[in-house]
Amino acid sequence: MVASRRGSGSITLPTGQTMAIHTRTHEEEDLPHATKKTMADHLRKYESLFTLTPQRMRMIVEAFKDSLELGLQKPKQVVPMIPTFVFGWPTGKESGDFLALDLGGTNLRVCLVTLQGEGKFEMTQTKYRLTEEQKQDEGQKLFDFCAECLKTFIDTNFTDEDGNSLLKPGELLPLGFTFSYPCYQSRIDHGELIRWTKGFGAKNTEGRDVAEMFRQSIEKYKIPVVMTAIINDTTGTLIASHYVNPKTKIAVIFGTGCNAAYMEDVSNIEKINELGINKQDQMAINCEWGAFDSFEHEHLPRTKYDIIVDETSNKPGEQAFEKLISGRYLGEILRLVICELIDEGVLFLGQETYKLETPYVFETAFLSLMESDPTDELLMIIGIFTHFFAVETTLAERQFFRALAMLIGRRAARLSACGIAAIVGKMGYLDEGCLVGADGSLYNKYPGFADRVHEGLVDIFGEKGRNIKTVHAEDGSGVGSAIIAAMTKARRDAGLYPHV
Ligand code: GLC
Repeated sequence: MVASRRGSGSITLPTGQTMAIHTRTHEEEDLPHATKKTMADHLRKYESLFTLTPQRMRMIVEAFKDSLELGLQKPKQVVPMIPTFVFGWPTGKESGDFLALDLGGTNLRVCLVTLQGEGKFEMTQTKYRLTEEQKQDEGQKLFDFCAECLKTFIDTNFTDEDGNSLLKPGELLPLGFTFSYPCYQSRIDHGELIRWTKGFGAKNTEGRDVAEMFRQSIEKYKIPVVMTAIINDTTGTLIASHYVNPKTKIAVIFGTGCNAAYMEDVSNIEKINELGINKQDQMAINCEWGAFDSFEHEHLPRTKYDIIVDETSNKPGEQAFEKLISGRYLGEILRLVICELIDEGVLFLGQETYKLETPYVFETAFLSLMESDPTDELLMIIGIFTHFFAVETTLAERQFFRALAMLIGRRAARLSACGIAAIVGKMGYLDEGCLVGADGSLYNKYPGFADRVHEGLVDIFGEKGRNIKTVHAEDGSGVGSAIIAAMTKARRDAGLYPHV
């Protein structure tokens, strides 16, 4: 007997798509569903796999601290601890118009930022979604696309009503290039790509100076800009958050990728000793902590699902920490658990499940939606499974999926707390406390993510962990990039080049 339809409606997803929802009673169905008891038994198994005890977290923090220290001492370590040539904190008085081009994990953005001083700013921006082909095609083509978008933006925003340019002849606009991938820097306007992360694989780019590649594209399209700085999103976030709130000492991105930056004493960055930079200075460090525990896999508790995610990725062995945390992977981890239960004959017996069998079809946004479903019947979860995957679920199964999402989301937040705790511990910020500027889709959209990070910090440090608070950061990739461009200009004007 086919289940009776009890009602219908629709929900608009964050992606803008509309999803139709039909509620049914499943008690009368003839599909062989798993019993409530079976689902509860399975859940217990996954609970033990995905749960991190405070003791385990403290062990991870210790290993993390060692990796951070090693990265500062020697070049080319697993956690590369990249000196960014961003010197010290902004004054908050930086002002002027700056362009920022932000090549992130999912989108390309062009921004015009007007810094007004006193921690205030205005911004105009245009966003473009990057296609999978663009991420894998020739690197130079990707930079050409960036240049084309930049040109369109300038043509639109710097012309009067009659289409005449508002720029003076020969005028060049200062541009910050936010390129959020690991790059070795020997100056602020240079960056050699160590490796692509976040699923990118554009050819002929790794090992090359991406600033130079982008400059070629700028010249090709004759764009009136001068690239003053190449910036990581975490560094931008650190500076932008401090610009508006000087209590910020650390910045973390929880988005398609996961990474952190903080301000270090130059005297502690042993590996750049020979550059002869003033030992009293401070410099922002882009940790690239997503690489923690890569290759050797000695410290992080990886499940078999994490190992599959890693081994089937375009970069096996790399970004071990990021693969347990970031938005690019969480949905895939959950999908792999579901597929295992399908293979074991526990879930969806007698139903067509091929739609669930394609890697990465289960988006991390679905985990957010599942965890935030406010209805007793879990209508949102019904909607996700029927609309996107054409399978029927019982309430017991939906409760299981929601609990599973919680386990995976909570583990990600608690591991992130370990990373933050490592920087806090290393820098001695615990007693006086500090703010952690945080940004990215996971932080901004995943329900309870921040609370779980805070809970993790208390598990690691005890009550004192409450001194460390994450706060929603200012747009580091746009505003931060502009502030860094302004700080760089000030250093150049003060004759402090070549070390800017
Ligand atoms: C990846 C990148 C890193 C970036 C982070 C967040 O980890 O390697 O540079 O900061 O994603 O976007």
